[in-house]
Amino acid sequence: MKALIIGDNNQLNFIDKEIPKPKENEVLVKITAVALNHRDQFIREGKYPGINPGTILGSDACGTVMEIGEQVDAVWKDKEVLINPNIDWGENPKVQSSQYHILGTPSDGLFCEYVTIDTKKIAEKPAHLSAEGGAALPLGGMTAFRALFHHGNCKKNENVLISGVGGGVAQFAFQFALAKGANVYVTSSDETKRTKSIELGAKEAFNYKDEDWVKKAKQASGGFNLVIDSAAGDGINDLIKLMKPAGRIVFYGATQGKPQNLDVHRMFWNQITLQGSTMANDDEFKAMITYVKKNRIEPIIDSVRPFEEIVEAFDKMKEGKQFGKLVAKF
Ligand SMILES: NC(=O)c1ccc[n+]([C@@H]2O[C@H](COP(=O)([O-])OP(=O)(O)OC[C@H]3O[C@@H](n4cnc5c(N)ncnc54)[C@H](OP(=O)(O)O)[C@@H]3O)[C@@H](O)[C@H]2O)c1
Repeated sequence: MKALIIGDNNQLNFIDKEIPKPKENEVLVKITAVALNHRDQFIREGKYPGINPGTILGSDACGTVMEIGEQVDAVWKDKEVLINPNIDWGENPKVQSSQYHILGTPSDGLFCEYVTIDTKKIAEKPAHLSAEGGAALPLGGMTAFRALFHHGNCKKNENVLISGVGGGVAQFAFQFALAKGANVYVTSSDETKRTKSIELGAKEAFNYKDEDWVKKAKQASGGFNLVIDSAAGDGINDLIKLMKPAGRIVFYGATQGKPQNLDVHRMFWNQITLQGSTMANDDEFKAMITYVKKNRIEPIIDSVRPFEEIVEAFDKMKEGKQFGKLVAKF
């Protein structure tokens, strides 16, 4: 089978591997579509912990169960499934264990034609989704779901800001918040993404690169109850300025690094919460899929290309030109 690995010197290499055999409680899934996350590109740039040369990359995939191992219910045979990339979240739903990691580094992932996986880590693909839509969902969907609902406690009619809406996780936070009935505002550096967000239901879209975007956002919204962010950096202080009293900022990444200063005075006076979030536990993975099914949410897909051309998708992610997920198909 074909697979994409991270090689020596962080090169992306295609290799041929034996098709694995499912063990007890496992199924063999023939992958039909995979999707990129920014971590895949960070790994390529050597900017991720635990990189093992020779590891198959990839954390998101959709496929069909071809074989079942011992003890597996025959109902799974031929089912189209999504794969939960979590490994060893652990017993505490509030925080992952110290063994926690994600498929695709440090252990083998899903950018390959076949994978064996425990049945606890698969879920039936929602019927309204294509294989491409299914592949787009797991990592980004679960990260957005936990940030928005577990930590963010997103409610109907609240003002919610999703920053950098072009991002793979941000697009899900945007769609999930819309489905909840929140007043959703977005930021993006890209005019096309801002226009598209308005078409999809955003109340307003601001360019976080405009000098006066904070003023414009405050005027338009009156302030936010909840912000979902992955940029962090000094921009966190702009977000703090934009919060309504008792507002919550949830961040799941720090693309812009650490802030040089933190406006702690405004935070304590306005009772602002700044909350970190990462991925989601296995129950939240299932709850996210149920939410997507119930609300018939369609992941935004930037582009689909043959698996042989997946390296081009990495290049596009590096440039940040995509709106929605970058998908590759077998
Ligand atoms: N903790 C976790 O479990 C977890 C899970 C997934 C991702 N992450 C992290 O979250 C970040 C995003 O991941 P992703 O896969 O969604 O990446 P992505 O698809 O490449 O999205 C990155 C987006 O960030 C936005 N952005 C860049 N600079 C910004 C700024 N100054 N202010 C606001 N937005 C800005 C851009 O949005 P526009 O193009 O709209 O300007 C860009 O499209 C990465 O740091 C990643 O490591 C963490």
